[in-house]
This record gives sequence, C-alpha cells and structure tokens, in this order.
Amino acid sequence: MSKPVAIITGAASGMGLALTRHLVSKGWRVAMADIDSENGSRLSSELGADTIFQQTDVSNYDEQARLFSRAFTWGGNRLDFLAANAGIDDKQSLYEINEDLDADGIPKEMNLKTIRVDLDAVIQGIWLFKHYARKNNTPGGKIVITSSAAGIYSMATNPLYTSAKHGLVGLVRACGPQFAEENITVNCICPSFVPTGLCPPHVLHKFPKEHITPMSTVLKAFDTFIGDNTMTGQTVELSLEHLYFRKQPEWANESQKWLGEESGEFWKEAYESLATTEGNL
Ligand SMILES: NC(=O)c1ccc[n+]([C@@H]2O[C@H](COP(=O)([O-])OP(=O)(O)OC[C@H]3O[C@@H](n4cnc5c(N)ncnc54)[C@H](O)[C@@H]3O)[C@@H](O)[C@H]2O)c1
Repeated sequence: MSKPVAIITGAASGMGLALTRHLVSKGWRVAMADIDSENGSRLSSELGADTIFQQTDVSNYDEQARLFSRAFTWGGNRLDFLAANAGIDDKQSLYEINEDLDADGIPKEMNLKTIRVDLDAVIQGIWLFKHYARKNNTPGGKIVITSSAAGIYSMATNPLYTSAKHGLVGLVRACGPQFAEENITVNCICPSFVPTGLCPPHVLHKFPKEHITPMSTVLKAFDTFIGDNTMTGQTVELSLEHLYFRKQPEWANESQKWLGEESGEFWKEAYESLATTEGNL
C-alpha cells in the first residue's frame, strides 16, 4: 500500500517543520511548502525522498494551485492531509500615528498581507484540497488549520492577526460539518505561545518559561485530528501540555438557537444560486 501524503504549508520553520519531521518519521510523504526557498530546499534534502519542497507564497493562488497539483502527482494521485499552517503577524500597525498620505492627503491603503496569508490563503487551500480529496481512491481527507489563541481571545498588539485567526475559527465551525458528507474533516488548532521563528529572536529569550507551550503539545493536537475520522468543525486550544476543546458560545436565547440550528433550509434556498456560476459576482 502506498504511503499517505500530506501538504504542509509553512514547513520550513517552527510548527510546520516539526510536523513534517513527525509525519515523515511515522511513514508519511510530505510536500513541504514555504515562501522561504533556501531553508525549505535544504531541509527537504536533509529529510530525504519522502519529502519534496515547493516554494510557495500561499497568498498567491496560482502558486498554491501548482503546489497541490505537484503534490498530488508526486504522491501517486493521492492527497490525504493538509496542514494549512503558514502564518505571519501584522505587517503594519493599525494604530500608526504618522500614516503615509497620498497627494490628496488621504491615508494610503493599509497593508493587509496578514489577512491574505493567514485567512484568504487558507480558504483557497480548502478549496484546492477538496478538489484533490475527491479524486482519491477512497474519496476524502483531513485538513488541520493553524489558528491561534488569538483566534479565541484578542491580541491588542496584532489586531489584523486577531481578525484572521478569529476568522479561521469561524471558517472551521461553518464548513467542517458541511464537508463530513464528502468524508473530509476540517479542524483547527489554537496554540498559545510556542517558541518558533514567529517570535523576534531578540525577545524570544525573555519570554517567561512557565508560559511556553511545548512543540509536543502541538504535535499531540495534530495527531488527535489525524487519528480520528469523525471529528470535524472542532477548535482545540493548546496551552502548556493541555488540549482544550472549545465550543462556540451558548445560544443567547431560543430564537438564536433556532437560527443557528434549525433555519438551514431557509438559508439553503436563499443561497442556492451561489452553488452555480451565476452566483459568482
Ligand atoms: N509560535 C506561536 O506562538 C504561535 C501561536 C499560535 C499560532 N501560531 C501560528 O502557527 C503557524 C506557524 O507559525 P510558527 O509559529 O511555526 O512560525 P514560523 O515563523 O517559525 O513558521 C512560519 C513559516 O511560514 C512561512 N511563511 C510565511 N509567509 C508565507 C507565505 N506567504 N507563504 C508560504 N509560507 C509562508 C515562513 O517562511 C515560515 O517558515 C502560523 O500560522 C502562526 O500564526 C504560532
């Protein structure tokens, strides 16, 4: 039987790299994707023939599409798992005092790369994954998205990151159960602080040790979702050695509960046109 095949984005560093090593050690083949081609190529060569590296800016749809196409062919027409993991923090401060102004004195557009990488690209990743998962011998597969504790709480220093990571939690809760009928599961992990390349090195050593979540907790969370065929739409918060499954808030009243749980037929009719090209605005 051929080995299971994964795509991991952000695989050249931190959690993506740790997960790559982990899956390869368990007999997987991994298509490593990262914008950082120098480290990505070097690490893939070190890890050997069960990996390939594809330089990919996940926020560029064509690049991400090429990644999926190559990974599927390389894997022997097989794609079992996507870790939509690449992420960046805010690249411009929403609180900036001296904004760059155009000739009319109007602030120039803000840099929203964080949303494009952390949220938009993940949606495109799900979009691509389902296409290939449907072609598997046994159609289906698993997606785990790396959100953040900032997807549950808020991080005042990084409002764009907070928005994107909250968006991922909503995304998983909305689409996870819907994909179940296609044998596709979509879940997300929300790690607290894990020492990786995301934290600027000049402050990393100052971070209080008692508040560090180890990489072993991250791998435990990935294993939990990879090893289960039924969980979907789930959000798990990672703190220290612990996994906390987080539900969406309680319904405020019976009316909200009805809207959330029983109004499906109404919305289905309302959005029917979205399933056709007619609905593409
Ligand atoms: N480290 C933490 O404390 C922490 C906590 C919660 C969530 N996260 C999330 O974990 C994920 C992994 O980050 P990490 O902590 O391992 O950081 P990291 O910086 O070590 O790794 C992120 C990787 O993503 C790559 N990347 C950045 N932009 C990219 C793009 N446009 N296309 C493809 N690759 C790109 C980087 O080159 C890097 O190799 C991110 O989504 C991050 O937001 C991190």
